[in-house]
Amino acid sequence: SWFHVQVLAQVDSTNRYLMQESARGVAHGTCVAAQMQTAGRGRRGRTWLSQLGGSLTFSILWRFQCGAAGLSGLSLIVGLALVRALHELGLTEVQLKWPNDLLVMHQGQWHKLGGILIELQGDMEGPSAAVIGIGMNLEVEQVMRQQIEQPVLGLNQLFGQAMNPNVLLGKCLAALAWHLNQFTEYGFAYFQADWTAHHAFHQQAVNLLLASGQVIPGQVVGIAEEGSLLVETAQGQQRFNAGEISVRSV
Ligand code: BTN
Repeated sequence: SWFHVQVLAQVDSTNRYLMQESARGVAHGTCVAAQMQTAGRGRRGRTWLSQLGGSLTFSILWRFQCGAAGLSGLSLIVGLALVRALHELGLTEVQLKWPNDLLVMHQGQWHKLGGILIELQGDMEGPSAAVIGIGMNLEVEQVMRQQIEQPVLGLNQLFGQAMNPNVLLGKCLAALAWHLNQFTEYGFAYFQADWTAHHAFHQQAVNLLLASGQVIPGQVVGIAEEGSLLVETAQGQQRFNAGEISVRSV
């Protein structure tokens, strides 16, 4: 099936645009891309900075029969879809940071290539809709690099040439359609092994940052069937949900 793609010259945030009340009637598979966002949203209340042409920014509205409770692995499979799309374009070394950052190793250091922000409509049981927001760096200017607290890299730098955003968006949408349909049918369990195979920190020593400020050292042992992170800690094996912790490599 087709996506309905709308490209805006400028918007505050494609996620906010699809989350607003008046967008509640929009069709399943609606995609809104923006050439420029003036108030891009990131996870944990952060902002997604972008300059004109600096990143590919788009959101998709996807409807589910199940309630939000069944969507715990959604953000993970979106990341996997993007890894696949980039793979098809020849970029084979992109990895995932749980729950859903796209990373690439460059000069001995992990750099963030893109991020995902999912916002849900509907309640835990009833039918729900997800606004799946994706931001992928194309060109990261020096100025911006100083405003972002972690190393970031753009696809143009990686490919050594300017990416055609239409080609990139097309590849992403094709991969997303397949992954979202498989996820709807079989759940995250279908992707569990594949996701683990692309996990940057699999079996690595990490520090887990809790919202309280507490830091727990441990070793990543896997991803559970519903998408939570499994970590071996001094207290034994523990399981964490997205949103509870943030992971730092050591
Ligand atoms: C993160 O890494 O914190 C997630 C970043 C998500 C950014 C994208 S850009 C398109 C969509 N619209 C937004 O306002 N945010 C997401």
